[in-house]
Amino acid sequence: MITLNLNGKDQQLDVPPEMPLLWAIRDVAGYTGTKFGCGLGLCGACTIHVDGLPVRACLTTVEQAVGKRVTTVEALQADPVGQVVQQAWLEAGVAQCGYCQGGQIMSATALLKDNRNPDDAQIEAAMAGNICRCGTYTRIRTAIRNAAA
Ligand code: FES
Repeated sequence: MITLNLNGKDQQLDVPPEMPLLWAIRDVAGYTGTKFGCGLGLCGACTIHVDGLPVRACLTTVEQAVGKRVTTVEALQADPVGQVVQQAWLEAGVAQCGYCQGGQIMSATALLKDNRNPDDAQIEAAMAGNICRCGTYTRIRTAIRNAAA
């Protein structure tokens, strides 16, 4: 058994330490808002927060997250900035198929928690690793600008 602090609660997970966090989160803990896209750290669909920083869950092992705070999109409503970002997403009608949007929102929230008023270059840099096959990039940038303080 491995204890992970997941969405604010210590959870005992019966998983091997080398398992990618993505599978522990989705298949064992049941937080399916974190998506599998590429498994190679290239698409951003699996983005979560570890100690508040955006991390690719497909490239992070369970062992690497022990003793740290792991947050998924399901817990974002408990975060004031996360609430603002999710509301901005709804108001901008960002999602098309929606598959990548959890990861997009996690990256955007991490950016805005670090910098409440990023300029366009900082938004581009923070969001460059999150791919959207539907091409919702313009609405994503609009939502982030609207969520900025
Ligand atoms: Fe992790 Fe694509 S599934 S970056």
